[in-house]
Amino acid sequence: MSRFRDPQDPLFRALNSSVAFDYRLAPYDLEQSLAHARMLARSGIISDADLGELERGLGAVREEIEADRFVVAPDDEDVHMAIERRLTEIAGPVGGKLHTARSRNDQVATDVAMLVRAHSLTARQLLLDLMGTLAELAERHLDWPLPGYTHLQRAQPVYLSHHLLAHFWRFRRDLQRFDFCLTATDELPLGAGALAGVNFDTSRTFVARELGFRGIAENSLDAVSNRDFVLDYLAAAATCATHLSQLGGEIVLWSTEEFGFCEVGDAFSSGSSLMPQKKNPDAAELLRAKAPRVVGRLTAVHGILHGLPLTYNKDLQEDKEPLFDAIDTVELCLRVAREMLAGTTFDGERMAAAAADEFIAATDVADLLVRRGVPFREAHGIVGRLVRTAVERRKQLSELREEELREVAPRLDAEYYEVLGQGAWLESKVSAGGTALARVRDQLTRARRILEEERR
Ligand code: ARG
Repeated sequence: MSRFRDPQDPLFRALNSSVAFDYRLAPYDLEQSLAHARMLARSGIISDADLGELERGLGAVREEIEADRFVVAPDDEDVHMAIERRLTEIAGPVGGKLHTARSRNDQVATDVAMLVRAHSLTARQLLLDLMGTLAELAERHLDWPLPGYTHLQRAQPVYLSHHLLAHFWRFRRDLQRFDFCLTATDELPLGAGALAGVNFDTSRTFVARELGFRGIAENSLDAVSNRDFVLDYLAAAATCATHLSQLGGEIVLWSTEEFGFCEVGDAFSSGSSLMPQKKNPDAAELLRAKAPRVVGRLTAVHGILHGLPLTYNKDLQEDKEPLFDAIDTVELCLRVAREMLAGTTFDGERMAAAAADEFIAATDVADLLVRRGVPFREAHGIVGRLVRTAVERRKQLSELREEELREVAPRLDAEYYEVLGQGAWLESKVSAGGTALARVRDQLTRARRILEEERR
């Protein structure tokens, strides 16, 4: 480098070099370079003969990379320089023409946008797979009652299908968030040059079309400094990882001896090195634990971008490792969640026994009084006293005798015992989005329709 008299300090190189991690951008960099070279030839900036040589050279570099034969040289600061260096070794001085009307600043922004787009599509596919599995499980456990919880206390009974579909809708929203990342990456940065545009009449829209961008970034300063799409991906990934964590946490709880609602298959469990009887839901625990890591990647990139003046700053090189790690983490977790769930068995008897706890029908008893004209607040108080009486006398609600009932709630009659009859509590939740079987069936139909539409 002619501007410099002294060589770079090895310590500086260690800090500055990104090729060890941004090598992962290579496929996007090659695709981009091909499109850029074609544009240069179409615009008359390089000759068709030059283009032919560049195409052949880039093809040869691609083969080396795909066959894992590409050797990174000590002087290759990043993947962009590594590819150009190798191209020039293969194709000769014409390799030096590739970087005409381009800067690494618009180049790297373009590569990262392409990568975010590709992985947003992957995430969407993995989410659809997971949602499909949840819908199938809901179908298979349509009318299995279990207690629904608030504060982790038994609250009201629900069907397992309804519970599983709650997770379905969370992942549906994640899918919509990843969809937004496709919008966030649809304007091509390339052609912005270092920051101000380039000294050639390039055809950015041609490159945009070649690379599958819907349009071009309007402002060159914005184009080279924009990393919103990294934030958008990370935000989508963080929320998705949080949902996976909540699912994992629930499986951990449900597979305890104490709950006994489900058992994760052997393929996603591990044993203890000491206690022979143990079967641990490690996969679910790790799903639970990965979320803060992804959230951390998001906050790291916010920190990197915070306060940066326009336009390119080397700080931006630090966007990659958090992004790559979040991609790897969330894609692996989505795959694991799906397979783990598909191999999980549910214990209908244990869930039904827990759901038969009559105290979770307390709201239904209160509503019986409401139907007799008692204001809900008052009914709430009456049934609360009834529950206390039962707890004190160590009885279930239906074991209270009529005299005992009348002490607390004179307006209750024999229908009280009917309300406490099994099943009625679930089927009475007929409001839209409620757990009554007919409502869950409607919900499942809508879920299936969404899967069909999104898969198209
Ligand atoms: N490796 C750099 C990055 O990832 C590429 C851009 C370098 N540009 C520059 N002006 N030094 O951000």
